[in-house]
Amino acid sequence: MSERIGIAVVGTGDWGANLVRNFANLPGARLVAVCDADAPRLAKTAAQYPGTKAYADVAQVAADAEIQGVVVAASAPSHYPLAKALLEAGKDVYVEKPITLEVEHAEELCRIAKQKNLILMVGHLLLYHPAVTYMKKMIDDGTLGDLFYVYCQRVNLGKVRKDENALWSFAPHDLSVVLYLLGAEPVDVVARGSDFLQKGVEDVVFVDLKFPNGKIAHVHVSWLDPHKLRKVTVVGSKKMVVFDDMDASEKIRIYDKGVDRAGEVVSYGDALTVRNGDILIPKLSLQEPLRLECTHFVDCIRDRKQPLTDGLDGLRVVKVLDAAQKSLKNGGTPVKIAPLPQEVR
Ligand SMILES: NC(=O)c1ccc[n+]([C@@H]2O[C@H](COP(=O)([O-])OP(=O)(O)OC[C@H]3O[C@@H](n4cnc5c(N)ncnc54)[C@H](O)[C@@H]3O)[C@@H](O)[C@H]2O)c1
Repeated sequence: MSERIGIAVVGTGDWGANLVRNFANLPGARLVAVCDADAPRLAKTAAQYPGTKAYADVAQVAADAEIQGVVVAASAPSHYPLAKALLEAGKDVYVEKPITLEVEHAEELCRIAKQKNLILMVGHLLLYHPAVTYMKKMIDDGTLGDLFYVYCQRVNLGKVRKDENALWSFAPHDLSVVLYLLGAEPVDVVARGSDFLQKGVEDVVFVDLKFPNGKIAHVHVSWLDPHKLRKVTVVGSKKMVVFDDMDASEKIRIYDKGVDRAGEVVSYGDALTVRNGDILIPKLSLQEPLRLECTHFVDCIRDRKQPLTDGLDGLRVVKVLDAAQKSLKNGGTPVKIAPLPQEVR
């Protein structure tokens, strides 16, 4: 077997701990170092992985020649400076979502990675979920027919953040899924939400997206909700599919439901017949999405291939988040989204 890829994880908080665990147990990787600005947390993490170096400053990670790939799982405002420093030091980088908080910063990271021929990946975890892979295949092979619309619900009573609102905290997941399934970038976005708990930090946000070919999508995110929902619903002309991530074993349900149009239309209403067919629950692979994502990062480093969730994917999502944030502040007016600039593609 070829040499294992040296990995460091920067930011070992609630989520970073999961990444550390995965990279420490990945056959193709070697966890060389963990890094956290919080000294007690760093000491606690390092104690769990004997032989792993403990760094308090990212500059030490950047200077360590044993480290080839770095995972940035620090809090969102630090993603840009950390990822920039690491790319400039010649490291391949996997940044947690959202890749940055500013469109220009995401563009800059994409530019640096492109110029230096480095891997830049973003942690859009759901694109590694076997259920999303399954839905994408159903769309691409025509099983669902023409895609009409998609909507996502990511709500619960949960961790209330201070430095980002529910839009930036939750919606990167759903937006990445919507963009992936529809295979297009939206032309405009409308968002409404409210800050019930902390002034200026929205707890609940409703986002509507319009795509060039008439397709539409809706995303509802909240950490102030009685339900715990993690659902994606896709409606096509032939079939409809629901991905319910809260269901432990039956994640996907395919509904053979639709409205069929009979040949020559005389009276429009008479020509439409409702089809209420079977529901199929396919058997899916039970692999942990995070492990698949971590394996993908290591594979991309070894084979020098473009990640499924590359920097551009991160940038596309940040552009939508940025437009949604502007719409939110303007009371829900539509905000246009420009295509990606040529030089970062
Ligand atoms: N992909 C997912 O499903 C998922 C889930 C949860 C969180 N996240 C993302 O992971 C990131 C971390 O979230 P969390 O909940 O673990 O946050 P957290 O606050 O629990 O942990 C963040 C850690 O980063 C450290 N840190 C901050 N700035 C640093 C710096 N400059 N250098 C070194 N360490 C630094 C902090 O000390 C802290 O230990 C966020 O970007 C979040 O959006 C992703």
